[in-house]
Amino acid sequence: MLDNSESYVTEDGRTIGGVVMEMKNITLRFGGVVAIKDISFDIREGEIRAIIGPNGAGKSSMLNVISGFYVPQEGEVLFHGKPRPQLRPYEVAQQGIARTFQNIALFEGMTVLDNVMTGRLNKMSSGLLAQAIWRGKAEKEEIENREKAEKIIDFLEIQHIRKTPVSRLPYGLKKRVELARALVSEPSILLLDEPMAGMNVEEKEDMSRFILDVNDEFGTTIALIEHDMGVVMDLSDRVVVMDYGKKIGDGTPSDIRNNQAVIDAYLGVAHD
Ligand SMILES: Nc1ncnc2c1ncn2[C@@H]1O[C@H](COP(=O)(O)OP(=O)(O)OP(=O)(O)O)[C@@H](O)[C@H]1O
Ligand SMILES: [Mg+2]
Repeated sequence: MLDNSESYVTEDGRTIGGVVMEMKNITLRFGGVVAIKDISFDIREGEIRAIIGPNGAGKSSMLNVISGFYVPQEGEVLFHGKPRPQLRPYEVAQQGIARTFQNIALFEGMTVLDNVMTGRLNKMSSGLLAQAIWRGKAEKEEIENREKAEKIIDFLEIQHIRKTPVSRLPYGLKKRVELARALVSEPSILLLDEPMAGMNVEEKEDMSRFILDVNDEFGTTIALIEHDMGVVMDLSDRVVVMDYGKKIGDGTPSDIRNNQAVIDAYLGVAHD
């Protein structure tokens, strides 16, 4: 077992830092439904951490706990070693956490560029009113936000559609726009809820490459939920496996591949 502050080197030679986020004995209920039962695990700096499990296992709920959007009834989340209080959505972003959603949540009528720009809202110190009036500090911020947005748009190779309304884009590109919007806030932790769901093989390969590039280029810590085991095994450094709200496995991809409880949970289960 590694100490919380120790780093380790992955099989592919990347250095992973100390623990940035620690989930301790998390239990989350919705009325009578126990979505998460007494789960503990951690996320280390610079790591790509996957959360997998059958439908309804509690994966999205867990991502919402990590982001601070859900507050568990029991247990606590330590962020850089400190218990985290309940957060409002804008406070989540200010902590350097950004996310994408299982169901695409973009403004369909707006262009790609405008959608990406909304990811900078938390960076605006002048306030929306000042932005609307458009002068002084607000104008300077607007320019800076636009530059950041353009940089991320280039990085994710979506320049050619920057002026296109999102409603006209194929599914795979919409997912990439969502990733762009999350990245433009320059998060230190990026949470991705099924970034490749519904994609064809080529789109999945593209998305996998971008996720690796983000991690490599910006040093972003990434937690992602994914059903495609091939993708999970290729991308992730460590994997948490959930089943019916419980943690049934936690380790490197090869640990997980050989874990009997995991194999059993996945046998005969349909995944989308
Ligand atoms: N807001 C909510 N209110 C009530 N029950 C919920 C809510 N969100 C999730 N649940 C329930 O909690 C359990 C876990 O759901 P969750 O969405 O976290 O699973 P999941 O692993 O992400 O599944 P999937 O692979 O289908 O996305 C399910 O039984 C679900 O019905
Ligand atoms: Mg889900």
